Amino acid sequence: MDLQKLKTETAADHRSVEGAVPLMHEGLDRAQYVQCLQQMYGVVAAWEERAAAIAPEWLQPSLAARQRKPLLASDLAWFGVTGNDDRRPTLPEMNNLPSLFGSMYVMEGSTLGGQYIARHVEAALLLREGQGYSYFRGHGSQTGRMWKEFCEMLELRVPDEDTDVVVGSAKAMFCTFGTWMQGKVAIDGK
Ligand code: HEM
Repeated sequence: MDLQKLKTETAADHRSVEGAVPLMHEGLDRAQYVQCLQQMYGVVAAWEERAAAIAPEWLQPSLAARQRKPLLASDLAWFGVTGNDDRRPTLPEMNNLPSLFGSMYVMEGSTLGGQYIARHVEAALLLREGQGYSYFRGHGSQTGRMWKEFCEMLELRVPDEDTDVVVGSAKAMFCTFGTWMQGKVAIDGK
């Protein structure tokens, strides 16, 4: 599949999601940050739960290794927020491998920006040793390797003619993520 096309065609979607979160703002305070973590928990949990439920067997170990919902839960717990928040956004449809991969591209790609966010919140909120921001540290020093492996998996598993399905699904996932973070989304379930 054409990774460059995926990146180019979703660049504007990335910019608008970036604009939907205050995480890199100079004056970011703890209350805004914790609210952001709480909102993120809903969309990350929704995606990880759905992906695990529908992914083929061969993809399961990779999904398990990339899980970040527990990191968000422990960051929230560090700030004194406990208990499971079960509000979830309605996710875009994922009824085949290319559409699952399109949304996975969005979630995995966020580990790249996460490295920058981790450094920013560490300094802005005086955090240390990953406490309260382990989600953004994510795969840490393995981030580059894991991103490369994900891209190789996309190239290997998705034929060129399915590139547009991946792009469409990535766009839909960026949109769901951004809208949810802005609190403008209908809530799934309760
Ligand atoms: C303030 C928030 C964000 C910032 C500053 C940011 C920044 C970045 C940067 C600098 C990269 C390129 C990193 C590199 O090539 O090493 C990147 C890549 C990426 N980010 Fe973000 N990001 C943010 C939020 C997000 C969010 C919330 C998502 C998903 C919901 C996301 C999805 C992606 C994706 C998919 C890529 C990979 C693009 C590609 O190379 O194909 N980002 N981000």
